[in-house]
Amino acid sequence: MTTSSPEGVSLGMPQLPPPDYPADVRARLEADAREVVARYPDSRSALLPLLHLVQSEEGHVTRTGMQFCADVLDLTTAEVTAVATFYTMYRRKPSGDYQVGVCTNTLCAVMGGDAIFETLQEHLGVGNGGTTEDGKVTLEHIECNAACDFAPVVMVNWEFFDNQTPASAKRLVDDLRAGTQVEPTRGAPLCTFKETARILAGFPDERAGAVEASGGAGPASLIGLRLAKGEALPARVVHPRAGGPEGSQPHDPSPSEHLSSHDAPQQTSASDPAHPAGPSAEEGE
Ligand code: FES
Repeated sequence: MTTSSPEGVSLGMPQLPPPDYPADVRARLEADAREVVARYPDSRSALLPLLHLVQSEEGHVTRTGMQFCADVLDLTTAEVTAVATFYTMYRRKPSGDYQVGVCTNTLCAVMGGDAIFETLQEHLGVGNGGTTEDGKVTLEHIECNAACDFAPVVMVNWEFFDNQTPASAKRLVDDLRAGTQVEPTRGAPLCTFKETARILAGFPDERAGAVEASGGAGPASLIGLRLAKGEALPARVVHPRAGGPEGSQPHDPSPSEHLSSHDAPQQTSASDPAHPAGPSAEEGE
């Protein structure tokens, strides 16, 4: 490793080795790491979960954490760094308890994701990757999380908050900052980023009901699976917002109902208390 100038230009100077963890922390992490490594026939395969493990300790992957992974797996720090800097689920700087990711990939963007992201930037006073002063929320835009049938989607510590609007997203971050319990639309109850990282490292989620909570994909996402299983599918899929009572004709939306997010954010809010979220329905169901 080399040092960098404040402008981020490499100066070619060798860096001092990172400080080690305190002895008790290292001993605890080594015991956890042995458990993780034992799951793989080749120890280096444990690198991804071990990076989550060190992230669960400090909230991001530090040089100390990467040195720890290199030591445990007999890898070079260059090898570990290459992996840690490749995957966006590893954070490289101190961040908030709650990572709020707004999907701005194509479908979510046109359904209101761009408007949500712009609203949250203004509301929180931070840009992409920025953390609020209270250390609670880190905002970032994220790519598609395979939940397009619930667009626009916001993820908090990788738990889904479906069918959001700028207003519901503002309420969400306000609740997170106030310490008010919020419930994801699907899946396990929310926990902090460090706790999430430990679960991603492969350790059991001990919270009551967390394992049983289903974060299943919606019917539209599962069409491909059903086709692969040889199931006959209905003629088309409609969203409950567009679908009428059973037996009614499919809704034929007017052009004005497809305004871009910049023109008029769609009030999709199945997450709105007045319009509770539910799975998409398939025609004929
Ligand atoms: S585009 Fe947002 S989840 Fe797919």
